[in-house]
Amino acid sequence: MEWDYTKADEIEKNCPPKVGIMFGIKVKQVIDNRNVGDYALADRQAINWKCGNFDLDSVLLQYVSPKQGMRLLDVACGNGHHTRLYAKKIGNKGTIVGIDQSASLIQDAIKAARQEELDLRYQVAFADPLPFEDNAFDVVTCNYALYHFEDMDGALSQMVRVLAPLGRIILTGPSSLNNQEIFDFHRSIGLEVSASVGRERFELGVRRYFSQQGMTVREEHYENRIQFESEREFANYYLKTRLFTDHVDQTNHEWIMANIERLIASESGQFLILNKRITLFEISLR
Ligand SMILES: C[S@@+](CC[C@H](N)C(=O)[O-])C[C@H]1O[C@@H](n2cnc3c(N)ncnc32)[C@H](O)[C@@H]1O
Repeated sequence: MEWDYTKADEIEKNCPPKVGIMFGIKVKQVIDNRNVGDYALADRQAINWKCGNFDLDSVLLQYVSPKQGMRLLDVACGNGHHTRLYAKKIGNKGTIVGIDQSASLIQDAIKAARQEELDLRYQVAFADPLPFEDNAFDVVTCNYALYHFEDMDGALSQMVRVLAPLGRIILTGPSSLNNQEIFDFHRSIGLEVSASVGRERFELGVRRYFSQQGMTVREEHYENRIQFESEREFANYYLKTRLFTDHVDQTNHEWIMANIERLIASESGQFLILNKRITLFEISLR
């Protein structure tokens, strides 16, 4: 197998980070191929860990069941958080690969792996087609990403293609009632929910694809209850969700911020809890 290593330093040169101020918080602004969503990923992860009561990482480790020598591919690996988690269990004899369409997130992943001295391989690539040979991996994972892909079926068929016989696919994503409180908040500041928002897409798409293929799917549901300290903290989280970064027309920025400030000032206590509803699918190849 040939690996196309992405050079972190080259990417850094092409997209130097810039920082701006949004709603009193520092966020890095849209530049080149790096978008607000990329920057927001690490912040969202941090809030999930700090304020949540559920540890998705442990559940993933249980399902992935990393073993010495395993070959694992994480599709749309983002900043590589999960690949590092698996690497600590799989060890040097295995192969762990992360791919993502975002050069800047792959750059973050490479840096973090270097810092932790982990032997990981990253590549900037799309989920469809996957740049790997057939039967190349024992496990393929894809966390919180599938429903962002334009062609979910295409990506799922690629995952099946690169999987070795008896291999497994582990997928996580939002269940259909995920983040209801964020959607309520979004509406309360006068915005419509975009039809392209993916929380309904994930479960329905995965169930439909594998039933058409005649393949058995195991499905589990979990809940991460996030308790915010203040409405401001809730709003900061909202500003980092893809509902906001990818679907809100940023030219309305001032108007949106004014509405958010008004809601925060009311301190209604209505927006302090967020229930992240998670669906996990496990598909085993015969
Ligand atoms: C919400 S993030 C999840 C990242 C990571 N899996 C995690 O759980 O932390 C979604 C990721 O999907 C990536 N992505 C979206 N569309 C993609 C595509 N067609 N091919 C590869 N990556 C894609 C984005 O760049 C982003 O890193």
